[in-house]
Amino acid sequence: MQSNKNITKFYLQGDKSIAIRSLILCLYFKGKHKIKNLPNSDDIKSTLYVFDKIGMDYQLLKNSLFIDSTNIKFNEIEIDCNESGTTARLLIGFFSGININCKIIGRKTLRKRPMDRVIFPLLDAGVNIQSKDNLLPVNIFKSKKLKTINATLIIPSAQIKSSLILYAMSRNGKSIISGNIKTRDHLERMLLDLKYPIKVGKDRIEIVGNKNKSNNININLPGDISSASFLICAALLSKESSIIIKDVCLNRYRMGFLESVIKMGGNIKINNKRNVHGENIGDIHASYTGNLKGITIDKINIPSLIDEIPVISILCLYSNGKTTFKNVEELRVKESDRIKAIIENIKLMNGNAKEIGNDLIIYGNKKLYNTTISDFNDHRIFMSFYIANKIINKNYRFDNNVDCYKKSFPDFLECIDRIIK
Ligand code: S3P
Repeated sequence: MQSNKNITKFYLQGDKSIAIRSLILCLYFKGKHKIKNLPNSDDIKSTLYVFDKIGMDYQLLKNSLFIDSTNIKFNEIEIDCNESGTTARLLIGFFSGININCKIIGRKTLRKRPMDRVIFPLLDAGVNIQSKDNLLPVNIFKSKKLKTINATLIIPSAQIKSSLILYAMSRNGKSIISGNIKTRDHLERMLLDLKYPIKVGKDRIEIVGNKNKSNNININLPGDISSASFLICAALLSKESSIIIKDVCLNRYRMGFLESVIKMGGNIKINNKRNVHGENIGDIHASYTGNLKGITIDKINIPSLIDEIPVISILCLYSNGKTTFKNVEELRVKESDRIKAIIENIKLMNGNAKEIGNDLIIYGNKKLYNTTISDFNDHRIFMSFYIANKIINKNYRFDNNVDCYKKSFPDFLECIDRIIK
């Protein structure tokens, strides 16, 4: 590691997953809430749109949001989630629970993303929910048959788990969610911190509905580990660079990127670890590493780095040997089919990658060339290959019409320019 004076320091905008959950919880809890370090990314704007639709009393001062939800009422509503899959899936659960007529719509990439994963368990709970081919738009109709949830999760997805928890919060009685629950647990942690009656076991969550309705949320959102992963990748690949990213969310179910990159030999240290309102946070120090090595990432570890596979792919290109990501079928239903998008861009750069079934395999250390990115309208594909191109040629320019990175990381370009100079 280098001496302090050469280290570039970053503070990142708040974590997208936690931000979306805190905004939706303000719809449930009646009180005066404060959310600090709210990101100004497109997905958060799409979530804030619900507040406008229901006439929520709120004020955004710089990046602090002040909300008064004491008098909110829900009527029939139509919500446009734009391109935010998390917003759409979580709101489907939430609005099903409070039992109003509601239509959830989306645009571009979101219209192609499957909603059956939340629709089916909600149908089982008696929700009157309709959609064509289980895609958006989804219509929810008031129902007299709503029950509590008793669901076993097959897909390890935090969106499904959170959607069902948000549904259960508005139903009288105890709901049970079991099966694949070892995914990001921000909502569970926030609820525990707010003293909400939720029990989180090893493979089972129990939650009692319609409790603690009066509550004030007061949260300072930790930096987004998914955004941090792009800066870490740029630092590891850029000669002489050394960065520190302060106050990043280190939720145990989102540690897969850091753990894998450390296994690859990446020069990474985590300092100043602490727990704030139930979430682990810390500072990440990363610096140039010239001798990364390929690894195998097993199925069990995939949920903990599901969003970081595109950016790890770039590190793989600069590693010795091959890297295998096992059973990454969930990548096919993100903003793009990320397996295809990663392989296509790697090939355009003269690299070597392939898919075998649902495994993704990337070979390191080939001579790479600049290319025009095929971004598939996918923020993480664009950001990953932007870094790969910029590492090859610092003057790399891209088509200025691209703005998909603003979905999750509006400051991306400025931050990368501070690392790859
Ligand atoms: C998210 C969960 C993940 C992730 C997405 C955000 C969340 O999706 O890919 O970017 O905030 O719950 P899945 O639940 O589909 O794995």
